[in-house]
Amino acid sequence: MNILGINAYHGNASAAVVCDGQLVAAVEEERFNRVKHAAGFPHQAVRYCLEEAGLTIQDVEHVAIPRNPWARMGTKLFYALRMPGFALDRSQVLRRFSGIQQDLAQACHVDPNGVQAQQHRVEHHLAHLASAFFVSPFDQAAVLSTDGLGDFASTMWATGRGNRLEVHGAVSFPHSLGLYYTAPRQYLGFWKFGDEYKVMGLAAYGEPAHEGEFRCMVKPHDRHGFRLGLQYFCHHQRGPQMSWPEANKTPILGRMFSPFLEERLGKSRVPSEPITKKHQDIAASLQAVLEEAYFRLLNSLYQATGSKAVCLAGGVAFNCVANGKIFDHTPFSEVYVQPAAGDAGLAVGAAYYVYHEILGHPRSFVMDHAYWGPQFTPGAIRQALAASAIKGSDFSLQELANEELTRLAAEHIAAGKILGWFQGRAEWGPRALGNRSILADPRRAEMKQVLNRRIKHRESFRPFAPSILEEATARYFARSQSSPFMNLAYSVKPEQRRKIPAPTHVDGTGRLQTVSRSANPLYWALIRDFEKLTGVPVLLNTSFNDNEPIVLEPGEAIDCFSRTNMDVLVIGNHLIEKRTSHANPSPEPVFPA
Ligand SMILES: [Fe+2]
Repeated sequence: MNILGINAYHGNASAAVVCDGQLVAAVEEERFNRVKHAAGFPHQAVRYCLEEAGLTIQDVEHVAIPRNPWARMGTKLFYALRMPGFALDRSQVLRRFSGIQQDLAQACHVDPNGVQAQQHRVEHHLAHLASAFFVSPFDQAAVLSTDGLGDFASTMWATGRGNRLEVHGAVSFPHSLGLYYTAPRQYLGFWKFGDEYKVMGLAAYGEPAHEGEFRCMVKPHDRHGFRLGLQYFCHHQRGPQMSWPEANKTPILGRMFSPFLEERLGKSRVPSEPITKKHQDIAASLQAVLEEAYFRLLNSLYQATGSKAVCLAGGVAFNCVANGKIFDHTPFSEVYVQPAAGDAGLAVGAAYYVYHEILGHPRSFVMDHAYWGPQFTPGAIRQALAASAIKGSDFSLQELANEELTRLAAEHIAAGKILGWFQGRAEWGPRALGNRSILADPRRAEMKQVLNRRIKHRESFRPFAPSILEEATARYFARSQSSPFMNLAYSVKPEQRRKIPAPTHVDGTGRLQTVSRSANPLYWALIRDFEKLTGVPVLLNTSFNDNEPIVLEPGEAIDCFSRTNMDVLVIGNHLIEKRTSHANPSPEPVFPA
C-alpha cells in the first residue's frame, strides 16, 4: 500500500511517501529549489520521495492532498458575498487544485492519464492533527492544531485513540492565534513569511508592558476557546491574502494589522529602523498573551480528553517558548511535536490520515528521528569535492574512520573553530538536527557574535540552540523530558549557564535538541567526544546555511564552507580544514574544562 502525500499551492510545499504504514521519505521543496518556504507544486520533492521508495507514480495507490476547497463552504460563501477580492482568491484556489493531476504527471514525467492513483482531499487541520498524533509514540492523546489559517479554520482539537481521531471542536476564519501573532510581527517590521520565530526570540529582551492591549486583541471565549478583537486586524475585511510569484515561489502575505493597532501602539516599525525597548516590550506582550490563550486552549483540551499526553501541530506549535512551559501551566506531562509541525508536515499528516482514518489500517510507526530527506553516497561526496575549489595548499583534507572523525572534529570545536557538519539523510522540518549543522563551542560567550559576524549574518537578538546528550538533559536543564526536534525551550539551570553561555538565551532558556544514541549515533558520538575533552555534553548547533534554505547536497555544503568564514568542514568521512583559518575567537574557552 503506497501513499503519496503532497502539500501543494501553499507555503512550505512538500511531499512524503508512506509504504505499508511506514514513512519512507519526506522533504520540503525549498531544499531543492533554494527558495525559503517555497510555495507552488513540489515537483522535485515528489520525484525524490518516489525515487527513495523505489516507486513510480503508477505504483502509488493513493494520493493524499491536505486541502479541501469544499470545507466550511457556508463561511466561505458568507465572506465571498461581502468581499469580491475574496471570491476571486477562492476561484484561483479551486483552479489550482483542479490542475493537480497535470502537475503531478508533469513532476513524474508521465501523461496525466497515466496517474491512476485515487485522490483524497483531507481538510487542512485534520491533516495537521494526523501529522501530530499518528506518528507519535502515544496510543491515546489529546491533539491540538493551531496555525494562521487553512481551509478557513485556524484551530482544531481532538482526541487521538489508536487509528482514529475524534474531533471535538474548531475555530473558523477570521479568528486565529497564528494571525494574532502575524499581525504584530508585521507591525514590528518583520515582513517575511515565517518570521514569527524572530519575534519570539526578541520577546525575551522585553517586559510585557502592553499586555492589556494584547488581551484586547485575543480574548477568551467559552465555546470557541478564543476570539480576536477584529478592530486590530484587516484580514477579515480583505480576505487571507497569500500569493507567490511564479518566478520564485516565495510566499507573500498581505498586511494583517489595521490602522487601529497603530493608533493604540504608535507607528509601526520600518524594517530599516533600529529595534528599541518599546519594540522588545511589544514582542514580550504579544508572546505573553499568546501563551495565556494557548494554555487556556490546552487546559480545556485536557478537560475534554483527560489524557496526560498531548500532540501539537500547526505553525503555533513551533513556538518552543510556549511549548516548554506546557508542563508548568497545564496538567500535561508528555508533549510530542513532530519536526515539521508547520504546513510542510501536512504531506505526512494527509498520507497517514488516508492510511488510518480512511483505509482503517492499524498504527505501526513512530517518528522518533527527523532524517527523512536525501542522502548522498561517499562517491557523490568525493565527486563534489573533486569538482570544488577545495584544492592545493589552502586546505588540508583527510579521510577518516568514524572514531577518528568525531574525535578530531570535537578537538577542533573545543579549540574554538566553527565546523560545518554534513552527514546522512537531510532533516525533515526547519531545524538542523545534526546532519546539516554548523557546530561551535557552547562554552565561549562570544561565539554567538562570532558566528553572526563570520557566517550567519542574522539579527543579533536571535538565540542559537544547544544540542545535548539526551542522558545529560536533567543536569543542564530544569526539565528532563526529551526534545529531539528542538520544539521546546527549557530553562538552563542557573548554575550551568556559565558553562554554556553561547546557546543560553538572554532569559536563561535554551531551545534544546536532546540527542539519543539510537536516533543519530554519529552526532551522539561527536558530542560525547566533546564531553570527554571539555566535561560539557553540549554543542552549539545552528543550521548549515547562510540566509538560504538549509544546504541539501554536498556541493551546496562545500560552497557554503568556501564562501563563508567557516574553519572546518566534515562531510561524510572527509575532514577539511582551511589553512587560512581565522584566529580562534579567544585563546581559551570562557570555562576551561
Ligand atoms: Fe497550517
